[in-house]
Amino acid sequence: MIHLGAAVAVKPLRADARYRNTLARAFTMVTAENVMKFGPVHPAPARYDFRGADAIVRFATARRMAVRGHTLVWHSQQPVWLTGGRFSRRALAAVLRAHIRTVAGRYRGRIAAWDVVNEAVADDGTPRRTLWSAGLGPGYLEQAFAWANEADPVARLFYNDYGIEALGRKSDAVYRLAERLLARGAPLHGVGFQAHLGLDDLPRWRDVEANLRRFAALGLLVQVTELDVRIPGKAGRRALARQADAYRRLLEICLTIPTCTAFVTWGFTDRHSWVPNFFKGYGAALPFDASYRPKPAMRAVQRLLGR
Ligand code: XIL
Repeated sequence: MIHLGAAVAVKPLRADARYRNTLARAFTMVTAENVMKFGPVHPAPARYDFRGADAIVRFATARRMAVRGHTLVWHSQQPVWLTGGRFSRRALAAVLRAHIRTVAGRYRGRIAAWDVVNEAVADDGTPRRTLWSAGLGPGYLEQAFAWANEADPVARLFYNDYGIEALGRKSDAVYRLAERLLARGAPLHGVGFQAHLGLDDLPRWRDVEANLRRFAALGLLVQVTELDVRIPGKAGRRALARQADAYRRLLEICLTIPTCTAFVTWGFTDRHSWVPNFFKGYGAALPFDASYRPKPAMRAVQRLLGR
């Protein structure tokens, strides 16, 4: 069974019944778009704010939807007490360990998959230099997986990254990283392929298929975790049809791999999407339009899944 999932923003979840209804009707899995990240969930050294994360987990659980946790170790959206703090190696390890234990522990048994580590590899394939890698040394990845496994032994633990959908320097580096973690016995269960794609820069699908297959051949789950297909300029009929094609191709590939267990879009309606803010001049990247009408991309997905 493959989950069709979407990242969820807490504001419209609270404020907009159409948002809630569309989400519950069309999807079987949710990811927290922001509220489980370090900064939002752990705003002060001794203070956690679980209100948003709880709201999402509660919504999902009440509707028997699965939850992806996102994310425990990342270089972005960190609180200033962390980025501006000065920690010894031991102190920083204690911070991360307590954070993982507290956040993953709170939802123990209710999270299907955790993005334990997000984006730890730079675009050129070298290890990304972050607060964590600089402060803890290269062993921090393995440690993070071990701590997450202690905190929630049920959740499947993922390494998640962007720009690793096709073959290339970065996906080679992540592949070797996964091999290394597995060889050392780390509880790595899957790799998440974010798939923030551009309609003007789509990957070669043959390469995407070969790439996902080689990760699956390591015995790993593979999931599409943050799909959007941004359209440059105005989204006309032709662009929407080509976008639907991209959604369809990627899902087709996923469906040929038995361990591809989730296909998750980063948001679901063009009304609430990070794309126009982050990629200037682009938009309309998601499967529902801004009025919650299914776009050709959504119809293609539903056709393939027989839903
Ligand atoms: C994005 C959110 O969608 C935005 O709302 C936020 O301002 C920045 O982060 N890769 C990830 C996600 O793993 O967490 C990012 O989400 C998008 C890129």
